[in-house]
Amino acid sequence: MLENGHRKILITAALPYANGDIHIGHMVEHLIVDFQNRFQKMRGNESMLICADDTHGTAIMIAAKKLGVSPEQMIAKVRDEHIHDFKLFEIEHDYYGSTHSQTNRELAGQIFERMNKKGHVVSKPMSQLFCEHDKMFLPDRFVKGTCPKCASPDQYGDNCDVCSSTYSTIDLKDPKCAICSNKPIVRETEHLFFKLDQFRDVLKHWVKNHVSSEVGNKLSEWLEADLQDWCVSRDEPYFGFEIPNYPGKYFYVWVDAPVGYMSSSLEYCKSKGIDWNSYWSEGQKTELYHCIGKDIISFHCLFWPAMLKAADYRLPTSIWTHGMLTVNGTKMSKSKGTFVNAKTFATHLNPLYFRYYLASKLSDGVSDIDWNFDDFTGRVNAELIGKITNIASRSAQMLEKLGGSLVSLDAEGKQLVTSAQDRSVEVADAYEKRQYQKAIQVIREIADTANKYFDEYQPWVLVKTDEHKTKIILTTALNIFRILSVYLKPILPSYVRQVEDLFRESSYKWSDAARILENHPLAKFDHLIKRVEPAKVAEMVAASKALNDSFTTTESSGQQSSVPQQKSSKPSSSGAQNKDGAANQAGSTIEISDFAKIDLRVARIAKAEHVEGAEKLLRLTLDLGTETRQVFSGIKAAYRPEDLEGRLTVMIANLQPRKMKFGMSEGMVLAAGPGGKDIFLLTPDTGAKPGDKIQ
Ligand code: MSP
Ligand code: ZN
Repeated sequence: MLENGHRKILITAALPYANGDIHIGHMVEHLIVDFQNRFQKMRGNESMLICADDTHGTAIMIAAKKLGVSPEQMIAKVRDEHIHDFKLFEIEHDYYGSTHSQTNRELAGQIFERMNKKGHVVSKPMSQLFCEHDKMFLPDRFVKGTCPKCASPDQYGDNCDVCSSTYSTIDLKDPKCAICSNKPIVRETEHLFFKLDQFRDVLKHWVKNHVSSEVGNKLSEWLEADLQDWCVSRDEPYFGFEIPNYPGKYFYVWVDAPVGYMSSSLEYCKSKGIDWNSYWSEGQKTELYHCIGKDIISFHCLFWPAMLKAADYRLPTSIWTHGMLTVNGTKMSKSKGTFVNAKTFATHLNPLYFRYYLASKLSDGVSDIDWNFDDFTGRVNAELIGKITNIASRSAQMLEKLGGSLVSLDAEGKQLVTSAQDRSVEVADAYEKRQYQKAIQVIREIADTANKYFDEYQPWVLVKTDEHKTKIILTTALNIFRILSVYLKPILPSYVRQVEDLFRESSYKWSDAARILENHPLAKFDHLIKRVEPAKVAEMVAASKALNDSFTTTESSGQQSSVPQQKSSKPSSSGAQNKDGAANQAGSTIEISDFAKIDLRVARIAKAEHVEGAEKLLRLTLDLGTETRQVFSGIKAAYRPEDLEGRLTVMIANLQPRKMKFGMSEGMVLAAGPGGKDIFLLTPDTGAKPGDKIQ
């Protein structure tokens, strides 16, 4: 590592999938890197933060199909939204690319060819499930069936949620295509495999010095076990890059995704005239960091370094691995309204609150980070507003009345200011190590000394007898606040911009903390930040709930959507994980004109019956006033048929009828609820009548 001021640093955040919104969980990672990138720039280092959308794979292809748009259209729109959402949170990627770019196609091809030429790739046949209806091989997440070990129904194609065993998709009993519910067949196909085992020693050596010890322990386990060959190809149809010289075969999304780090930085470097090779060629003095969540360790600490090595590129300096964000102690939940999108947060609350709160909790470890709403409100109000901002608002407003200019410090003031400056090394060290909570702790301590000093002198009383001494006290407090602001700048950029304005200074560098401002006129004080209102937190939760609940469809399979939800992945002990990124959540929005096409009607449930042989379905006879319809609905878990009869529900009346195993389904019942056991139907007292059109 070079001396500060001369370092060249490339930081990446994992590339978000291009079929879901940016949510508050993503923010953990983007804040870690944004704090770091801003800090390094303030220190005078050359630092760049690079990210991109991860655009390929089956899940994205199917999500686009469902929306009736091309994958290219969908990913372009999602990328715009992602960029916008990150801006809301003041996350400043120096460049935000896309894995679906020409640069990425070329680099992925080049890396593969180098791997192949050196004998690290083999081709071998493989048996896979194939859906004859959808005419495609089904990734693990697109097959559901009965666990071959414990016989639990409704499990994904790779592992069982009930008994945790992992298995091969073709061993799943009674498999069903998650897209069309038909039974897939086993078909043999030829695939390309990367011989990860040939990199065992390289990886063992690299792991020693380039990941945290917690992550290192996990990796050692994998590296001592079998390192299975990694399947790097997929059959068409697949939204991705066709592999050069292998017609009909595409790169598995996890091959070209990390290459997106290289290609996006290449596009950036080209635009800025920066030497890209100095970041990616072997034997460079530059620093390369990938920040990731602990769910994708195997991809970044096994496959990726092996690929880089195979293709003669440098290996990362370090992989920064963080834990998952939980909300009020549990996993983010759509039904509880704690699956909060970045946009929703920003609509109701100032994103600076989240930046501060997260900073006050983040360390460099992999434990999960909990966003507790009470703690959040309490802490932001007590610390950011009560302790920190308060120094400025009290002092600046009073000083304004006394002429609005800082005076000279006395000995005591100078000593207080100097001791705040003396902590610069400590704060910088905490930032450097990504122990942001330590940085915040020091900042809080300094704020405490300023408040104590202020309260002891009671300038609001003193001003009546000694105006000059009062000004000295205010000057001292404001200088301490100014130093705090320099320390806080990576975390609260727009807030500190206002502080710079207040002091009539230009953009703070780290070294600005060493200055003292005396006999210097201030600008008019402008209110810096408001308190968190707990009611707004509640509004945000309600809005998230409404967004995620809205019209959960319960047709046939009873799944919330035909694209399986992504589950947190547990890398298999071999590390040879083979998971296609399934959709995080329904991605894009629809036009009002699309919505208008849907004929929503109130229907009376005339009859509800069990369906022999169906685990989840009920056969509903729906009375639309003028006609009756038969609809199969996956709401058996929620209702006894006898409780449903006579009740009102909402149905899509103009859905193309579908032939199902048990008969025709002539429409779809909508349930506005979290699914599972809590499906809400209309009760007759709403005044709705069968056949009513819902506008
Ligand atoms: N597309 C892959 C990454 C490819 S990198 C070459 C992917 N995308 S993701 O959208 O699912 O996740 C992106 C990052 O966000 C990952 O590092 C993941 O760990 C992180 N997070 C997603 N949900 C999260 C939380 N709830 N909490 C913290 N981080 C989370 O994986
Ligand atoms: Zn199918």
